Order: sequence, then C-alpha cells, then structure tokens
Amino acid sequence: MSRSDELVRKHREFLWPAVTNYYQHPLVADHASMQYLWDVEGNKYLDFFGGIVTIGLGHCNPKITSKIKQQTDKLQHTSTLFPNEAIVALAEKLAQITPGKLQKSFFTSSGTEANEAAVLLARMAGPSYDIVALRHGYSGASSLAKGITGQAAWRKAGVVGVGVAHALNPYCYRCPLHLKYPDCGVACAQDVENLIQTATSGSIAAFIAEPIQGVGGFITPPPEYFKIVYRIVKNYGGAFISDEVQTGFGRTGRKWFGIEQWEVVPDIITCAKSMGNGVPVGATITTSELAGKFQGLTISTFGGNPVTSVAARAVIEVIEEENLLENTHVVGGYFRAGLEQLKGKYPVIGDVRGMGMMQALELVRDRETREPAPAETNQLLERARANGLLIGKGGLYGNVIRMAPPMNITRADVDEGIRLLDKSLGEVRA
Ligand SMILES: Cc1ncc(COP(=O)(O)O)c(C=O)c1O
Repeated sequence: MSRSDELVRKHREFLWPAVTNYYQHPLVADHASMQYLWDVEGNKYLDFFGGIVTIGLGHCNPKITSKIKQQTDKLQHTSTLFPNEAIVALAEKLAQITPGKLQKSFFTSSGTEANEAAVLLARMAGPSYDIVALRHGYSGASSLAKGITGQAAWRKAGVVGVGVAHALNPYCYRCPLHLKYPDCGVACAQDVENLIQTATSGSIAAFIAEPIQGVGGFITPPPEYFKIVYRIVKNYGGAFISDEVQTGFGRTGRKWFGIEQWEVVPDIITCAKSMGNGVPVGATITTSELAGKFQGLTISTFGGNPVTSVAARAVIEVIEEENLLENTHVVGGYFRAGLEQLKGKYPVIGDVRGMGMMQALELVRDRETREPAPAETNQLLERARANGLLIGKGGLYGNVIRMAPPMNITRADVDEGIRLLDKSLGEVRA
C-alpha cells in the first residue's frame, strides 16, 4: 500500500465521514511553497484554490512564517484576558484599513465564530431578533451559521429555523425571478423590503451577506444590488453585516474588502480565511457605538492569539509593501480575460464571473437550457489535478469551478494556469 493510500485509509478510519475530501483518490498534501503544493508522491501542483480560498499570499510565505516563528518563541498564548502587543497592533491596523468608522475588533479562530459574534451583537443592539440572509449563502458550521446558510446540503439537522428569513439572491445567470438585468430594475433587491414586511416581525437586527458568494459559486451581484438593500436594511433598523471571509483582505482587487466594490459602508465586517494566510484567525470588526452595545461579557480562548495576530498583521503588511491590491486587480483582470477566451472555446462553460483573484466558471450541459453539469465539473476537477492544477468546486448544483490563486502571482502563473485548464477542459467528456 502506498503512503498516500495508507494515509487515506487512516483518514477514513479515524475522521468523521462528513469531512469529505476532493477527488476520487484524495490528494495527500505533503509540503507547499508559495503558489505550489506537492503531494506525498512528489507530484507538484500549481495551486489555484489555496486550501479553500485561504492562501492569499502563497503557501508558507517566508515573510509571514518568519514572524510566526519569532512570535512562537516569544509568547504563544495569553487568551483575551491579557492584553499583548500583537493583538493591539493587529486591531489598530484593522481600524486603519476598514471602511467607515469600523474601529473595534473582536478576534476569533474562524469565520463561523466571527459570524456568530456579529449576529449576536446585532441582536443585542437591534430592534428585533430577526435576521435577513441570502439564499445560496454560506455562513459557517455552527448551528446558527447553518441556520443562516442558504444551501440545503450545509443545513442538515441541528438547524433551528428561528429568526432568519432568506432573501432571493442576486444570481443573474439563474435569476430567481426569471428576469434579465438591467431591465429587471434589480427586483431581487427591492424584494428585501417585502420579505421584511412579511417574513419578520417588521424590523430586523441585521442583514448578513457575502459581497460575492463564495461556496455559492462566486455569485457576483449587479453593482446596484447592495446599495438598494442597504437603504432598506437601514429603514427597518438593521445592522448591515458584510461577511468578508472569502472576499476579504484584498481578494477582489484594489479594495481591502469586497463590500467596498459595491460602495456600501457596512456596520460590521467579519473575516477569516486569507486574513491569516493559513493560520486560524477571524475577526468581527464594528463601530465603537455598536461594540459598546454588547451586553454582558465575552471571551475567546484562542481569539487574538499572539501568534495568529502577528500572522494577520504580517499579511496586511505584505499586501501593502508589495502593492498586492493593485496586482490582484491587474493580474486578476488578465486571468479573467484568459477565462473568457476559454468560454469562447468550450460550450460547457456557461458563465464566467467573479472579481480579482476570485474567478469562477459555471459549467452547463447546454448553454440554452443552462442545465447544470455537475459530472463534467467533477471530471474537470480530476483532469486538472492530473495535469498539475488545483482548482475548487462550489455552487448549489455542484457545477461551479472556483479559483482563488494567491494575490501575488504573475501573468506567467496565469498563463500556466490557463494552459492547464485548457488542456483539462479538452479532456472532459459529456
Ligand atoms: C463566506 C463564509 N463565511 C463563513 C465561513 C466559515 O468560516 P470557517 O470555516 O473558518 O468557520 C466560510 C467558510 O467557508 C465562508 O466561506
């Protein structure tokens, strides 16, 4: 039995089966460096998925790992009971890069906890308990986060269906209202008002959404969508929570946070994933006013850990030093152009969407009917792996290829990624 077979066997024996792996024969990762990852057999891959949209600056980026190593030897743990330089420095830096008056951070170890904290705070501060979330959204793995999530596969059991109303999502390729943008007048956004009037108590604690839906398949709203919804949310007393777990830290290009692309200043931002480039760190960032409305006490054993805080600060500094917000915009645009060319060549690509280093292909059996092509999507995932390219999957119908290369890749990396995708698409059989 090969080393990878043995590890896969043990994984199956000792881990929950619900923790699924990609690929028919799971890829057992061994080591990684910047945009590359190697499996235990020594095969090298160009990694355009980065775990799950998490490696924003390349695997084991030495500019970040060197700071992690230093901090590990100096002070590893304090809990939130003891202030330390790392947590303060990160919070101060976040206050500088977040939009509006978002000045106060609460640190966690994951995106799920960051969303939990955001919703809890909004419910403490708001006029009611009601939350509006989006269909096709993904908010995390806890009971509450599953209740907010808008995809059945991630909502099984344990979900208490109280206090969350799900709005139509701005999925133009599969418009839930069967309309066409822009003639639709962004009716899905206008419908949020009717939803609040009919499916809530008439006022809301918060609206929570991802500026581009990640697990949903990089569903990218029309530019006016969030502005319209923001006005409605404010009219009904709610806080606007932008879940930046996937869009955060510059991934959409030129801006630090995805919601800034839509010219909305949220009341709360939640982030994780790329924030730490692979270390477990999350944050819920809000205004002084809102943060002051938290009732009682809160704590996080691992939130704001000195080691993860140092990593997250280093991430921001590297993005600044290397001008990566711009690189993401420019090289991301170049990547997008390459994907559009592939769409011209392969009818199985129904839609190309996303922004910056967050780009997706929605695969369909027929461009007219837009019938989802999940089997072809799986094939493409497998073929890309065989050809040395790691890409991800998503979408309610399992037919969206998600790609999130590191923000510091070059045009040459994109050329190689597109070449491998082209080859792999050519090998997909209907
Ligand atoms: C948009 C979004 N929010 C929240 C989460 C949950 O984050 P975590 O897995 O770190 O708990 C995810 C994870 O994929 C996500 O994509």
